[in-house]
Amino acid sequence: MILRLAAALVLCILALPSLAQVPVAWKTGREAVVIEQRVEALLKRMTLDEKVGQLHLSGRGEGFNAARIREGRMGAVMNFVVPQEIADAQRAVRESRLKIPLIIGLDAVHGFSTYFPLPLGQASSWNPELIEEAAYWTGREAGAAGINWTFAPMVDISRDPRWGRVLEGAGEDPYLGSVVAAARTHGYQRGGVATTVKHLVGYGASEAGRDYNSTWIPTSQLFDVYLPPFKAAFDAGSMTAMAAFNALNGMPTTAHRELLTGLLRDKWKFKGFVVSDFGSITELRLHGIARDDAEAGRKALLAGIDMDMMGDVYDKHLAAEVKAGRVPLKALDEAVRRVLRVKFHLGLFERPDVDVAAAPKLMQTEEARQVARRAAGEGIILLKNANNTLPIAPSVKSVAVIGAMAVPEAERVWTDPAGLGRRVGQSLPDALKERLPADASVIYEPAFTRNCGTEFADKAAAIRAAAASDLVVAMLGEDCEFIGEAASRTNLGLPGVQQELLEALVATGKPIVLVLATGRPLVLTWADQHVAAIVQTFHGGTEGRAVIAEVLSGQANPAGRTPMSFPRSVGQIPVYYDHLPTGRPQKEHKRYESIYMDERNEPLYPFGFGLSYSRFTYANPRVDRANISLNGTAKVSVDVTNAGRRDGQEVVQLYIRQPVASRSRPVRELKGFKKLMIKAGETIAVTFDLPANQLGMHDDAGRYVVEPGDVEIYLGGSSLAETVTQITLTRP
Ligand code: BGC
Repeated sequence: MILRLAAALVLCILALPSLAQVPVAWKTGREAVVIEQRVEALLKRMTLDEKVGQLHLSGRGEGFNAARIREGRMGAVMNFVVPQEIADAQRAVRESRLKIPLIIGLDAVHGFSTYFPLPLGQASSWNPELIEEAAYWTGREAGAAGINWTFAPMVDISRDPRWGRVLEGAGEDPYLGSVVAAARTHGYQRGGVATTVKHLVGYGASEAGRDYNSTWIPTSQLFDVYLPPFKAAFDAGSMTAMAAFNALNGMPTTAHRELLTGLLRDKWKFKGFVVSDFGSITELRLHGIARDDAEAGRKALLAGIDMDMMGDVYDKHLAAEVKAGRVPLKALDEAVRRVLRVKFHLGLFERPDVDVAAAPKLMQTEEARQVARRAAGEGIILLKNANNTLPIAPSVKSVAVIGAMAVPEAERVWTDPAGLGRRVGQSLPDALKERLPADASVIYEPAFTRNCGTEFADKAAAIRAAAASDLVVAMLGEDCEFIGEAASRTNLGLPGVQQELLEALVATGKPIVLVLATGRPLVLTWADQHVAAIVQTFHGGTEGRAVIAEVLSGQANPAGRTPMSFPRSVGQIPVYYDHLPTGRPQKEHKRYESIYMDERNEPLYPFGFGLSYSRFTYANPRVDRANISLNGTAKVSVDVTNAGRRDGQEVVQLYIRQPVASRSRPVRELKGFKKLMIKAGETIAVTFDLPANQLGMHDDAGRYVVEPGDVEIYLGGSSLAETVTQITLTRP
């Protein structure tokens, strides 16, 4: 027996090198010094063309030419997902003069083979450890296929759900956004791929929510709201960053020297490289700041863009610009140095080529699927639950599941690019059938021809099924061209014919549970008035539908919280919780208050909100002392009770407000949260450390200031937290 165990152990150890991913992180001390020496030695041996080659990022497919790798004129590739193709590219490197390894990039945004919820859905879990695990498994799987660099995390704060890319971020809040940015950076890099924190900066504030549009952000807001998640990702060790498509205050970020060099390199001491966004260097012409590509390339490089993604601008023009003296060789060398530095810190020079045979074994492992399941489960937000419609009661004997989104399609959205055998996960009707009592029937009607919900298949059959059931579960939402990049919308209702379907289902008089899979908060005002329950998900990934069934059936207790405010109408946008006060706040909703004539000011569902099958109460807010010096830390506590009948998770949130300061401060700012499992009937004393140096703001010059004075503290289960205490900040 002992011998057998020992043999198994040896086998495990032997198997490890090919199966385990090497975590990546900036090396320190002696190792970092040696790397700098290696970078300099290599740089000395490089020709001008080879230097430019290191800054050239090219894609798979048309236009890709492995000969360019052999010539040393392509240092980076992207969108390669088939291990054999990556191995071929790596072989081409070995046939090149200097054999400088490729950095191989991919948007592994929310999974590679195992799919986790969209990042906005992960953020809805308010569980940083879980979010880190999701990124870790994404990194591991991508790494096993040969990828060593991901274009994630996207950390753009956005207060505008018209913008299709809110799904890639963590929502509206800089504190939650920073926690998530750090967690994802740690996770990916621990999983073996370098991260690219993106998009520097302000992309999420595109005017009117239209993708690629300009942004106008005052310096104080830039530093208080938009930059913190970037700083958090750099502090967590992100090795690269991506500039944005937009112009910020009139200067396209791809040519923004003050941002990419002044802030990033000079102030924040970032030593990795910055990649452009897809073709954004050549787009400088269209932004109206360059006559031709040569000038665009020159401006981008001198601003601090080290690598040209898919623009071929550096490839075609940079060498000539250097020869003509328009780009100093020193500037080129510095960009190359940054790219080489990252490659050395990543350990690429020592890494073996991708193990093509081992790769499939590392996809969709049981551990990854478990994390996907937990991440999807904890991100489910219960927005409405009238008359305890959920969990589905034992008296419900028949359920109609309506909507093609309830059944995953293998060929769409989550395809299997690497050919590594992806399972698509359970359908909602199957998962429900498994989880409801044996005497309950579940029937399924797709209603639509495609998951996108733009065309009916058999509407009448769906209505008949609904009318014949005790309860209707309608799984609707946004998919296909309605979500993601370049999917800005001015109308945030259910796309296509889905609203018509929902109204017809409501007209049957049956209780309706609306399950949403969307890429952003939709305007749910009509639904909120007419359906019994609303369950919000942001495309839960491989395990998404199985965990919805767990929540509907009551096997799981929902514990997600909104990472963005849900507007009542598009006209309210931007609507976010940490706005400034006005001199005429909404009181009685009367003329000459800061209100709309035809709408309330508040969102339909506030930031940080989510119901549970438990009920949580807050009492005894307290601080360890009333006066805290500007360099001190307050301990803030509150007792949280689960007054419900089920064990459940609560997200205990702490908000502050400084009511009087040298400039107007937001009405609330999130400064801490803890997600806890609290047993039915149990009370937990929750304590937060609140360092005074986290309670400041930036001035118009971007300087951080913490001002003495009173600080109100609000504790509760959403941004409407009502349990209040206070501290006073004093000069030391
Ligand atoms: C997006 C980036 C992405 C890149 C590569 C661009 O259109 O803005 O976020 O990383 O494409 O796919």
